[in-house]
Amino acid sequence: MTTLVDPERLGNWVAAVLQRHGVQASHAQSTARVLVAADVQGIDSHGIARLPAYLGRLGSGATATEGQPCVVASSGATALVDGGNLMGHPVAEFAMAEAIARARSCGVGWVAVRNSNHFGIAGFYARLATDLGLIGLAGTNAGPRVAPAGANEPFLGTNPFAVAVPTSSPPAMVVDMATSAVATGKLELAARDGKPIPEGWGVDRDGHATTDAAALASGGWLLPLGSFRQLSSHKGFALGLLVEVFSGLLGGGPYGPGVQNLVFTAGDRPARVGHFLAAIDPARFGDAHSFTDAVSSLLADLHGLTPSDPETPVMTPGEPEWRCELERRRDGIPLGGEVLNSLTRIGEELALEFPSSAFG
Ligand SMILES: NC(=O)c1ccc[n+]([C@@H]2O[C@H](COP(=O)([O-])OP(=O)(O)OC[C@H]3O[C@@H](n4cnc5c(N)ncnc54)[C@H](O)[C@@H]3O)[C@@H](O)[C@H]2O)c1
Repeated sequence: MTTLVDPERLGNWVAAVLQRHGVQASHAQSTARVLVAADVQGIDSHGIARLPAYLGRLGSGATATEGQPCVVASSGATALVDGGNLMGHPVAEFAMAEAIARARSCGVGWVAVRNSNHFGIAGFYARLATDLGLIGLAGTNAGPRVAPAGANEPFLGTNPFAVAVPTSSPPAMVVDMATSAVATGKLELAARDGKPIPEGWGVDRDGHATTDAAALASGGWLLPLGSFRQLSSHKGFALGLLVEVFSGLLGGGPYGPGVQNLVFTAGDRPARVGHFLAAIDPARFGDAHSFTDAVSSLLADLHGLTPSDPETPVMTPGEPEWRCELERRRDGIPLGGEVLNSLTRIGEELALEFPSSAFG
């Protein structure tokens, strides 16, 4: 059964559940905002489906609930934030607000974050900047799931980054991507559906290419963007490595196996995840309106290109999520299967009924 859920009711429910797990109200609301934003944009791999894993880490004490993220070093355009091992979403929102304030005063703002947790979709934070006419950048490391090109064991996380660029009319340009061939959450969705995965997403415990999602969950690992050497997996590896440097090392945090994975490594130890959040003010380079007009003009030219498949017009980064958001804000978020079952169970355990009644 699939049900359509009202995004606002879903957000309120998520925040209430997190508060029952000891998360302070403003942090719970922040996490709810990011999860619902993922689901309304169709990024189902990183929305409400992630809630059980977050609750597991809260329950074991691996994620802290007391305290606030804080700036521990600061100089003009830059800042270092300590996330206090709190939920990654409020930490990243706090850090992006710092980056935006610094971009307003210095033209650019760059914030490194250490001692945080899984923050969901990188694009959410980058878009906080574009909503204010700035270019936004965000990225995070994650526990080892991806084998560097040429290696036969996982070392880096799926290490996503996002760059969002303001336009004069929607949709904004939002590049938001894992640097692995696929995000772990998408693999989990495929495993739940029992469907074969495309060759090139990952390998089994012996390092052999597989189309079995379950093989990846039991000892296998993911491949970098590009998948295979002959398809330039060294470039995906390089991108993931850069995200590791900006997210982990720049803020003095650990790298690779020093970082815990939300799902696949010990659920009872601090994750020690690092992020970077940055903003650039286009107005410091010339007329801001001319810039956003030029970006829109670039996107319009791309839309005007002859499509390789006549049935599928060219889309630009951020457009699929924008189209989905228009639909889901109107019709509701479709939830079903194991995700809906697990949320219903959580609601029953806490006597907080999951808002699964039909939307409308
Ligand atoms: N917190 C974490 O540890 C973590 C780890 C990995 C991924 N993530 C998040 O998971 C999400 C999904 O990542 P992903 O790599 O699966 O993204 P994806 O492959 O779905 O999309 C990547 C980018 O391609 C664009 N795109 C998609 N289809 C397109 C098309 N037909 N034409 C033009 N552009 C198109 C999207 O707008 C997006 O900017 C992201 O939000 C990412 O931040 C988080």
